[in-house]
Amino acid sequence: MTIRRVGVVGCGLMGSGIAQVSAQAGFPTVVREVAAAPLERGLASIRKFLQGGVDKGKVTAAEMEKTLANLSGTTDLVALSGCDLVIEAVSEDLALKRELFAALDGILAPEAIVASNTSSLSITELSTFTKRPGRFLGLHFFNPVPLMKLVEVVRTLRTDPGVAEQAKQWCEAIGKTAVTVPDSTGFVVNRLLVPYLLDAIRVFEQGLASRDDIDNAMKLGCGYPMGPLLLGDYVGLDTTYAIAQIMFDEFREPRFAPPPLLRRMVLAGRHGRKSGRGFYDWSTQPPS
Ligand code: CAA
Repeated sequence: MTIRRVGVVGCGLMGSGIAQVSAQAGFPTVVREVAAAPLERGLASIRKFLQGGVDKGKVTAAEMEKTLANLSGTTDLVALSGCDLVIEAVSEDLALKRELFAALDGILAPEAIVASNTSSLSITELSTFTKRPGRFLGLHFFNPVPLMKLVEVVRTLRTDPGVAEQAKQWCEAIGKTAVTVPDSTGFVVNRLLVPYLLDAIRVFEQGLASRDDIDNAMKLGCGYPMGPLLLGDYVGLDTTYAIAQIMFDEFREPRFAPPPLLRRMVLAGRHGRKSGRGFYDWSTQPPS
């Protein structure tokens, strides 16, 4: 089977980015949200990003038009029926994903490939929710999806090697570099990134350095594009907290334990960029 038509479930931060890069690479892509309002928000963010690309001279107006012509939004899961590859990018909620994968089994052709963009849930566990474990895998994208070059292709013990290879080739066709990794919580990037983000919060919490000194230290001392506290805000502190909890439950190692300050910030609604306030104030303009 050749991947021709792509479906994306969820048009939030990650789903909208995945749908965009798929459509931009020439694949007819249908993205599904649960209701009209979040769908329109997601599609508007795609239009805004593409327009930003046109303004910066990175994308031509014709490419933008072509991308939008390849993209359709729906609130009806059945609209994904002709897709050869469907990527799930809904909230990190097992019950929700279980229901979704069961519904997709009834809609998609038996040979269709189903992937999850989960950053920390077990791909193996998710594969038990489908009748096609051999055609199920993880495709983990990074935020912001149109700019970050990597996709982790995550194989379970039951993923057909040919399916993993096909998914990898599709990632390359949309301009990404794919690394293939076995299913292990956090895969490679979050296994390394999450303890780093948590340690930066601990350094701040213990008063060892100010927010700006921590971020400047890592930006200027290590050449990272963003400091860790800004990156935490960018990823979402609620998301970082949820991933840390899942990783701590899995490995029981203190380096994955969410620091108390992170928990309190999440409880206080300081989720970072998405809520307007995290370590930084995002309510006016993005921190530089
Ligand atoms: N369309 C096309 N290109 C665009 C664009 C648009 N709308 N907006 C920006 N660009 C291009 C710019 O022109 C620029 O290109 P060049 O390098 O060729 O000049 C490039 O993208 C960078 O853009 P900016 O200069 O505007 O922004 P920046 O230099 O401040 O970089 C950033 C922004 C890419 C987000 C950078 O800060 C970065 O890489 N940060 C780290 C992000 C990161 O680590 N993400 C992973 C998070 S972890 C995750 O997602 C997984 C998980 O499970 C938690």
